[in-house]
Amino acid sequence: MNRIVVTGGKRLVGEVRIGGSKNAALPLLFAGILTGDSCVFENLPRVSDVLQTLEILRFLGARIRFQRSGDVEVDYRDVRPEVPPGTLTSAIRGSVYLLGAMLGRFGIASLPGAGGCDFGSRPIDLHLWGLERLGAVEEQDAEALTLRAESGLSGCALPLPLPSVGATGNLLMAATAARGETVLSGIAIEPHVQALAEFLRAAGADISPFEGGAVRVRGGAPLHGCRVRVIPDMIEAGTYLCAAMATGGRITLREAVPEHLGALLWVLERMGARLQLRRDGISLDAPERYRCMRIETGPYPAFPTDLHPQMAALFCIGGRAVGEGRVRERVWQSRFRYTEELRRMGAVVRIAEDEARFLPSTLHGTEVRSPDLRGGAALLLAALAAEGRTEISNAATVGRGYEHLEAKLRGLGARVRVYG
Ligand code: UD1
Repeated sequence: MNRIVVTGGKRLVGEVRIGGSKNAALPLLFAGILTGDSCVFENLPRVSDVLQTLEILRFLGARIRFQRSGDVEVDYRDVRPEVPPGTLTSAIRGSVYLLGAMLGRFGIASLPGAGGCDFGSRPIDLHLWGLERLGAVEEQDAEALTLRAESGLSGCALPLPLPSVGATGNLLMAATAARGETVLSGIAIEPHVQALAEFLRAAGADISPFEGGAVRVRGGAPLHGCRVRVIPDMIEAGTYLCAAMATGGRITLREAVPEHLGALLWVLERMGARLQLRRDGISLDAPERYRCMRIETGPYPAFPTDLHPQMAALFCIGGRAVGEGRVRERVWQSRFRYTEELRRMGAVVRIAEDEARFLPSTLHGTEVRSPDLRGGAALLLAALAAEGRTEISNAATVGRGYEHLEAKLRGLGARVRVYG
């Protein structure tokens, strides 16, 4: 997926099925290493980050079988404690989960580098602090970061100073393999983190329910293979809801969980959207015009940082948006790169420190470059609402997280083509 070409101005109308969550699938696929057995993943999204993860696992010795049903079986029995090539691990952020998973299974984990979207600094100090407390020793050479726990990991108290999704996932995995009890507190409680705990429980781990931002793990018991269904992708769902808003459309999402999207649904309703919520579906009827809002991103259940650019795009659309919209980004230092590209389409944006302000203006199609996954989604939404033709380059960034993008958008009536 190199280029997305959109001719704007069509209302999106119809029904779309939301796929499995990328942010849930990646930690699950890595956590499977801990089972040393065979696991079956249902509803695994076919996005490039997932395919990249399967490549890493294959390099390490896993056998992968795409079943006719669409499920994917990963046999982890022959996984070896090797250093995967940096070219593979640095293509995705999710490769950080190799640390907890490999350390837990083999007492050694090596990571040449992790990639992901560029939002400024993306530290892993909390991951390392926790893994060291569990007994790992860190070593960094020119090739890779290596963690060793030659005599195994031991449970302990791990109070996190901030609710990092990645650190919570890595430490849950390592704690599952550590002897004795670990109490992780201050944890992230995103649905995809809870899904990881659910998977580990299904594989035999003794993990308490999440309560008061804490979880207790009684580790050390051997795990076994299991079958898991990846939860629906809340960010994909949120993006389609925003696409319907951008075009004055009417959309029904199948397999989307309203409970995961409370902050977004609250905002959309206040903007004038008419919503119908079912246990596993959402319908949205967009108003002709909507009021802009102030939003602030934060750890779940606050407004997700991964839906910030899409909401910002809505605030820019002249003829639909009314008033000034503001986005304060509280998770990442630098997540406003997409605004440069929106400006090329005619958007009026002012940025001061961690807040961007948007005024509605007429957007026109032009050539833009996707800076990252969700920034690219924001450009796509703007393009769906803009006058004329927009060409989005560097679209592989968008392919990292949106499954069957062209087919889904065309099914809703969009004039869009994906090339490459
Ligand atoms: C974060 C998002 C996640 C999103 C992903 C990609 C949150 C809480 N997490 O997950 O929803 O899908 O980005 O956009 O919204 N931090 C440290 N030290 C660490 C780890 C993190 O200081 O060791 C800080 C980060 O700089 C950041 C915050 O913690 O400010 C959240 O990071 P974290 O949740 O770990 O990031 P991801 O797991 O990538």
